[in-house]
Amino acid sequence: MTEDLTDGPEGLARAATLLRGGGLVAFPTETVYGLGGDARDDRAVARIFDAKGRPRFNPLIVHVPDVAAAREFARIDARAEAVAAAFWPGPLTLVLPLRDGAGLSPLVTAGLDTVAIRVPAHPLARALLRAFGGPLAAPSANPSGKVSPTRAAHVRAGLSGRIEAIIDGGPCAVGVESTILGLDGPPALLRPGGVPVEDLERVLGETPVAGGSAEKPNAPGQLASHYAPAAAVRLDVTEPRPDEVFVGFGDCPGAALSLSEKADPVEAAARLFHILREADALAGDGGRIAFAPVPETGLGRAINDRLRRAAAPR
Ligand code: TXA
Ligand code: MG
Repeated sequence: MTEDLTDGPEGLARAATLLRGGGLVAFPTETVYGLGGDARDDRAVARIFDAKGRPRFNPLIVHVPDVAAAREFARIDARAEAVAAAFWPGPLTLVLPLRDGAGLSPLVTAGLDTVAIRVPAHPLARALLRAFGGPLAAPSANPSGKVSPTRAAHVRAGLSGRIEAIIDGGPCAVGVESTILGLDGPPALLRPGGVPVEDLERVLGETPVAGGSAEKPNAPGQLASHYAPAAAVRLDVTEPRPDEVFVGFGDCPGAALSLSEKADPVEAAARLFHILREADALAGDGGRIAFAPVPETGLGRAINDRLRRAAAPR
């Protein structure tokens, strides 16, 4: 049975107890809901992979409360310190050299010599990390390859019965996953996300190299088909066909749904995964969804990345 926990002190205490016993607890972050387990416990981490149906070669992000805790698990050079100071807590994950013997389960990093670390900003995520008192491995709380969850109900629909509990913290404010920046070499953008790459460039003083591709993913989770709804997805559509559920951005007469009527990429990111689910439900079995174009700047980059994966052949 999966327990529904509320966001008060009792719910958090119960969640911490479940986590200490090797249980899995879904919790809200500012990006998407995460599926948390003790990152030092092989069995808990193995259960995360099983609950999601996730391939074991795809490493997990370790969530910690602050940069001091991050230093226990990763080597943080001056460049990483500067980026962390600018964006943590917040929707940024850093891939850093792993500190050996720090106690993380080797399953978390899938045997790599790097580790992905994130300091989330959501007050409930932070309270949970404090109550638990250790590092939490947490991928997005959805079955592998499916649409990411931005509400507790999305988590329930995908993972109910497979995990111990869900903490309901309402809808996620950012709505797309964290930006992943590789800093184990020259700065590499491994996944566009909640921190726009333009903001990273200002702090780094350089443009991160584009990292990863469908053929040779640097973030091993960045496989081409992902975020897949049941319906077929077509992108950059200005003239939808009659059999398509049309999702607009900005002024799109006749659109059934809209990512943002005022063409605001921040609002569109926050709504993206919920709208994708709604469009999928409207389209029905074997249905089709068409998305209006979204500009490739700011959060638009993360939105288009997710839409391209949702539209990819599978
Ligand atoms: O916003 C987020 O980052 C959310 C919330 C819950 O924090 N988490 C999330 O986790 O999106 P997940 O597992 O869905 O995506 C993690 C990505 C995967 O693409 C994985 O391959 C990559 O991070 N990753 C993890 N460790 C890595 C490493 N050492 N090197 C390169 N990529 C890594
Ligand atoms: Mg995910």
